[in-house]
Amino acid sequence: MRFLGLSFWIMLVIVLVGCAQNKPQDKKVVNEGSSPSSSMENRNGSYEAGKMVYDRHCKVCHQANRMGISKIYPPIKNTKRVKGDKAYLIDVVLNGLSGEIKVEGVKYKGVMAPYKNLSDQQIADVINYIRNDSDGAKDMVSVDEVKQRR
Ligand code: HEC
Repeated sequence: MRFLGLSFWIMLVIVLVGCAQNKPQDKKVVNEGSSPSSSMENRNGSYEAGKMVYDRHCKVCHQANRMGISKIYPPIKNTKRVKGDKAYLIDVVLNGLSGEIKVEGVKYKGVMAPYKNLSDQQIADVINYIRNDSDGAKDMVSVDEVKQRR
């Protein structure tokens, strides 16, 4: 009887400790699941998802710091066009770009391939990402805007 009583208390302690440890973990999993991508109202959500697209598809030319390589790949950080017309940026990503352009006083005459294979969400996210530290940051590109220009 005394032995049984002791095991009961030991079991109770184990169960309680188990619950106390599980609760915060459960919460963390829920948060991780609900935070990324989708919400276009959430600048940070778009930032994370956009950075993933950028690192995979754009970084090789425009570089990690988005400053490009002078005369070869234009900078896409806080330049006139990057903080300006959203439609232009959507078109460049959707259709690519070639022919001579001038960016921050430097001439470029290269070829950028189209990125039609990216989803509307990915294109919106990557543009919001490259605009995140410019005057255009608050005027976010929506999935619908990309859809309309596709
Ligand atoms: C293979 C290299 C390469 C990759 C990869 C690339 N670009 Fe470009 N990008 C260029 C070049 C070259 C130009 C300039 C084209 C020209 O001279 O007409 C350019 C131009 C641009 C412009 C226009 C800049 C301006 O001031 O008009 C934007 C915006 C842009 N790229 C965004 C992106 C994004 C976003 C991605 C990823 C989805 C990407 N680029 C991937 C090479 C690349």
